[in-house]
Amino acid sequence: STYALILAGGSGTRFWPLSRNEKPKQLLNLFGEETLLEQAISRLEGLVPLENILILTNAQQEAAVRQVASKLPAGNIFAEPAKRDTAPAVALGIGLVAARNPDAVMIVLPADQLIRDTAAFQSVMKDAVAAAEKSDGLVTIGIKPTWPCPSYGYIERGQRASIPGLDCEQMPAEVKRFREKPSTELAEQFLSQGGFCWNAGMFVWSIPTVIRELSTHQPELASFVSELRRSGDVAATVAAQFPKLTPISIDYGLMEKARRVLNIEATFDWDDVGSWLSVAKYLENVGSDNRVNTPVSEIDSENNIVFNARKGSHVALLGVDDLIIVQTEDALLIANRHQADAIKKLADKLPPEL
Ligand code: GDD
Ligand code: MG
Repeated sequence: STYALILAGGSGTRFWPLSRNEKPKQLLNLFGEETLLEQAISRLEGLVPLENILILTNAQQEAAVRQVASKLPAGNIFAEPAKRDTAPAVALGIGLVAARNPDAVMIVLPADQLIRDTAAFQSVMKDAVAAAEKSDGLVTIGIKPTWPCPSYGYIERGQRASIPGLDCEQMPAEVKRFREKPSTELAEQFLSQGGFCWNAGMFVWSIPTVIRELSTHQPELASFVSELRRSGDVAATVAAQFPKLTPISIDYGLMEKARRVLNIEATFDWDDVGSWLSVAKYLENVGSDNRVNTPVSEIDSENNIVFNARKGSHVALLGVDDLIIVQTEDALLIANRHQADAIKKLADKLPPEL
């Protein structure tokens, strides 16, 4: 049977002041009725049964996640007792799945991406699940890169994989190299060399395969997984052991090192909506001047993104260009749109109550 683990514990400070520690990107409904997390769950409908979908988050976001994910059994949502990045979180998920079915295939998904073509997503996932079932590879999903972005993982695709008995639409490729977050210069080199794709941040593997790779490259996490499997009291084991794990992401901790990585190309649209610029790009009611849900009075002002969540207040602009202006009940952001990516740095400087 197939399981899905949704990682929903990121801090997402790039959308400050709309996103806060207890309400990061995946819990915002910037793109229609549903939050990104709800969309991630809905996208699995028909592919993974609800009772096989697990969500990992942290204590700060747990209440909001439970509300948004009310379709899932309450016991499928877990809060990590400390922030240890994605490798320990994924290990916890592996332990939880292994306890239910030690031979399962498991899909790991981020909670904060925008993907609209659900049919294509499911078809790619079906292929990835089949490949993970029939091989000893960790399956990644590749996105066609459009610029040398330094905040993604890069995957160098090699020859077509030979996997006996595999019947699927798109045969996976063997991965020659997985390189997480290269410098812009190195990313440029990858793109001019060709044969590289971005890592979508989704992983598909069988429990025995991933445990074997963890034992080699992350023995600490492998023993955490086996403790979880043996434990009669999972909550107590997590509370005692999880905070001791070394923080590292799954990309650096496992994917860069793993013996066999496979890759399937995404045929669906994909955006990890990293900043206000990408939000403005998607919203249907955004005019050419990038107003977001907001009546604005303006003279001589161009290319501004204005998001006003404060009821009964009005925004007026005079002679200003290229700004991001976000107003909420208790905060106002005025930023240069060319520095949209640095808003997360700004969020680190704010008083704790914000
Ligand atoms: N439960 C839990 N605990 N979830 C976490 C934690 C944690 O400590 N830290 C992050 N997450 C969640 C985030 O909410 C997100 O859904 C997912 O894990 C990925 O974490 P990010 O912090 O967003 O990773 P990234 O964007 O820097 O890089 C990853 O995604 C890129 C594509 O968007 C990597 O996999 C890259 O290789 C990839 O290109
Ligand atoms: Mg991300």
